[in-house]
Amino acid sequence: MRRVSTEDLRERVRRIPGIERLLPALDGLPPVYLVGGAVRDLLLGERSLDIDLAVEGDARSAARELARRLDGDVVGHDRFGTATVHAPDLRVDLAMTRKERYPRPGALPEVEPATLAEDLARRDFSINAMAIALHGDELGHLHDPFGGVRDLTAGIVRVLHERSFVDDPTRLLRALRYETRLGFQLDPETERLAREAAARSLLRLVSGPRVRDELLPLLEEIELIPRALRRMRELGIDRSLHPALTADPQLAADAALAANVVGASRRLSALAALLARDPEGAREWLDELALRAPERDAVERAARRGRQLATLLGIGELRPSQIYELLAPEPPEALAVALALGAPQRAIADYVNRLRHVRLEISGRDLVAAGVPESPLIGQALRAVLRMKLDGRVSGRDEELAAALAEVRLAEEAAGRGGDAK
Ligand code: CTP
Repeated sequence: MRRVSTEDLRERVRRIPGIERLLPALDGLPPVYLVGGAVRDLLLGERSLDIDLAVEGDARSAARELARRLDGDVVGHDRFGTATVHAPDLRVDLAMTRKERYPRPGALPEVEPATLAEDLARRDFSINAMAIALHGDELGHLHDPFGGVRDLTAGIVRVLHERSFVDDPTRLLRALRYETRLGFQLDPETERLAREAAARSLLRLVSGPRVRDELLPLLEEIELIPRALRRMRELGIDRSLHPALTADPQLAADAALAANVVGASRRLSALAALLARDPEGAREWLDELALRAPERDAVERAARRGRQLATLLGIGELRPSQIYELLAPEPPEALAVALALGAPQRAIADYVNRLRHVRLEISGRDLVAAGVPESPLIGQALRAVLRMKLDGRVSGRDEELAAALAEVRLAEEAAGRGGDAK
């Protein structure tokens, strides 16, 4: 990264989408700075989509005034003094510059208003602890008290002080994110602190949803998964999350890759791969993440059933109906994990591309019309005929109907009620 002048930065700021409306609307408000990832991205010459602003003063009243000037609304605010302005084609997050005190490791911080310098000093890494002024003549002026530009240039992730990971252990996961996404490296002292925090299992003190929000983005991009998980294991971060987790870079990457083939979610498949060695042991941890119920169930089932499916499908030549019966109750993520664990590709591809789409030409109504009384027998007979169809033993409507009626008769005879069906 080459050195960027204030002139350059001003130009780059002016290219942020929507900024031409934002800058004049800031006139007369307390000093306002672009902060966080947007500054990093601008310095790296990348497009930044988020506009995160720090206001040296009352951010909420600044947000109200900004919304009025931009014809927008203020939505949401929290105890950290933040607010979001939604205006036509423009979304801006504002927060008051603040300092933080962590009552105990992993807890949310207590905050109070502070200067920009103090606000930058509470942040995670030097590359995220920079601000670009947006007000008046200051426009484009970079505040970089911790050598963020130097570290961006050298490709280094560096904490600002030695308690950083203790105060906020989610920073362990964020460090992995920046290492992998930006291709950076932890500086040696930061790595030592990260290993120490991981060894103390500090991530166990953080609420599940906060862990989830930092963990899942690590599992989203296939190219990044192997490095993220390798580092997770090297630094002991997997065990720090929960002793039952195993970051197996190859397995997680294979599961994410297989997810694309079977139509599963990449990140949920990779998450299931993390749990696959000891799904029972990690169940409670998974619950704490508070995923939506269907997502949670898919991960749990994929972690639990993936290995069994791989074994069962690998036993020998199975009939299509047997493959169907094994796989139909499973979420696609279980298929992805099974593939990653070595399940035969041919069987799963056949299920995904063909078997799961097979439908009968008849329905229960046809059996009722043929005189079968409504009962669970109808469902059973239809399922039996579907199996026959999958195995190529019946084809066409007439054969399906005849086979279904034969099934009903057989079942009735078995139940000792032969002769009831007309
Ligand atoms: N931050 C922090 N500690 C955290 C989370 C966030 O210090 N645990 C600070 C960092 O300065 C970060 C900013 O808050 O840059 C915004 O956080 P977030 O939006 O999560 O990250 P970005 O840096 O915007 O990164 P990304 O582009 O990866 O979303």
